Amino acid sequence: MIPGFSAATAISDGGAARPRHVAIIMDGNGRWATERGWPRLVGHRRGAERVKQIVRACPELGVDWLTIYAFSTENWKRSTEEVLGLMKIFRRYIEREAVGMASEGVRMRFIGGRERLDRKLQDLMASIEARTAGNTRLNLTVAINYGGRDELTRASTRLARKIAAGEIETPTEADLADCMDTAGHPDPDLVIRTSGETRTSNFLPWQAAYSEYEFTPTLWPDFTPQHLSDILGNYGMRDRRFGGA
Ligand code: IPE
Ligand code: IPE
Ligand code: MG
Repeated sequence: MIPGFSAATAISDGGAARPRHVAIIMDGNGRWATERGWPRLVGHRRGAERVKQIVRACPELGVDWLTIYAFSTENWKRSTEEVLGLMKIFRRYIEREAVGMASEGVRMRFIGGRERLDRKLQDLMASIEARTAGNTRLNLTVAINYGGRDELTRASTRLARKIAAGEIETPTEADLADCMDTAGHPDPDLVIRTSGETRTSNFLPWQAAYSEYEFTPTLWPDFTPQHLSDILGNYGMRDRRFGGA
């Protein structure tokens, strides 16, 4: 249970459609800290606390899949201090949350290129993926060193190898989807971006081709389960036509 938050009363959409898969671009940690005169890393640490709350709220809100953007292929451009600080936060998050996630039924997976991450972090990622592989209550996917163009490039290489090996003759959309980091995952129904920016910053360009988008001015460290619940309530009013009449 999230203190001060009740999923039962939070959503009053009369049972309208709920998004099964929500993806979040968690933006605004730096500004949140800077506004308070604090180092950016304080914002990232606060952001990681929010992740825990949002993950816990998802099953109560009827969300089966949550995909979160934690570090992009472009974020290496930041200062060494910020990048190393973020990597430390990721390691700690996995170490500290592992036991809880395993017992709370969360299946954790990662998307993005792993080779550039430090060995210890790669090992932790592989170990929590293995440990939670049988869980079904919530599918949590964390995008670390993720870029949609990088993913498509790696997927195209895999597809080319399959064609060269004679496994595939004329590739279909499904063949390419099978080569993505997200193979087997449903596409996100709804993509939320916090912090007021209205761009996608290389997040899931293939998978979110038909997703609904919600942009909220709230900075990620201020984003509560109640904010998520309100957004999910509004989702029920959307008319998703997928090109049909
Ligand atoms: C999002 O917050 C977290 C990461 C990109 C790692 P930012 O660090 O981008 O925060 P702002 O956009 O500078 O406020
Ligand atoms: C997107 O946020 C990446 C993550 C949230 C991890 P950024 O802050 O890096 O995106 P831009 O630079 O504003 O587009
Ligand atoms: Mg940002």
